[in-house]
Amino acid sequence: MSWDTVDLEWDGAVATLTVDRPDALNALNVETLTAMGEAIEDAADEGARALVLTGAGDAFIAGADIKYMRDLDPEAAQEWGELGHDVADALEAFPAPTIAAVNGYAFGGGCEMALACDLRVAGESALIGNTEIDLGIIPGWGATQRLPRLVGDETARRMIFLGERLDAESAAEAGLFGEVVADDELETVVGELADRLAAKPAFAMRTAKAALNQGYEGSQESGLTYEKRAFASLFGTPDQREGMAAFVEDRQPDFD
Ligand code: CAA
Repeated sequence: MSWDTVDLEWDGAVATLTVDRPDALNALNVETLTAMGEAIEDAADEGARALVLTGAGDAFIAGADIKYMRDLDPEAAQEWGELGHDVADALEAFPAPTIAAVNGYAFGGGCEMALACDLRVAGESALIGNTEIDLGIIPGWGATQRLPRLVGDETARRMIFLGERLDAESAAEAGLFGEVVADDELETVVGELADRLAAKPAFAMRTAKAALNQGYEGSQESGLTYEKRAFASLFGTPDQREGMAAFVEDRQPDFD
């Protein structure tokens, strides 16, 4: 499948989804969100063992398309919000690790797509924030829930209430980015990280991600119960057998 404003490229088992609408700094409209949803589904169906999300040119994603949004009535805005949520949810539920390679502006809905990924690596000139307040709206694709989990309640409130745009270093200090690298090294660093993730046992990885996600679905108690079951269910799988045998035999594991 191919799309006008989204590219899906493969390097081995690593898929890279690039939002490619540079004239609008990769702002997301209906067409682009729909294409993202299809590309994520394709990557999952094709068995990607890691998925990288990034933007073409000098921006990651400058947010939802304000020119499209400005005249929406509440009913249309509800549908629009759901479309963005569906894409963020698909990233969150993706059956392998996802990495946001934040290569520039990541505002509003762009920040929210990065938040829905498992890991975030930024180029040093990246800027990120939930700037919606200055447009008279609030974050619409998940930041009120996902941002505080990542940066803590106080910082999330400051960012959302003030519409703060954080530079990469400040965002990393706040816990938004796991790593900040030189702009021209971003692709290489993320590629290496994705390769390392893709080499891990796929079923155990998928289960680890599901268990981590489950922790956010309900109470800590239900998360811990889920973890106990998921942990036990991995014993006896080929990956568990091979991983532990390799340790005992002092060799590198050879996973399927
Ligand atoms: N929507 C639509 N178009 C956008 C856009 C957006 N979010 N961001 C940038 N663009 C367009 C600009 O209108 C401009 O188009 P034209 O050339 O046709 O005029 C082009 O991209 C280049 O942008 P600028 O000229 O503004 O570039 P700049 O370098 O001077 O500024 C910027 C870059 C600081 C990112 C600025 O464009 C900006 O502030 N953009 C808006 C960021 C924002 O507020 N995003 C949040 C949107 S709300 C949201 O996302 C809601 C939600 O939760 C779902």
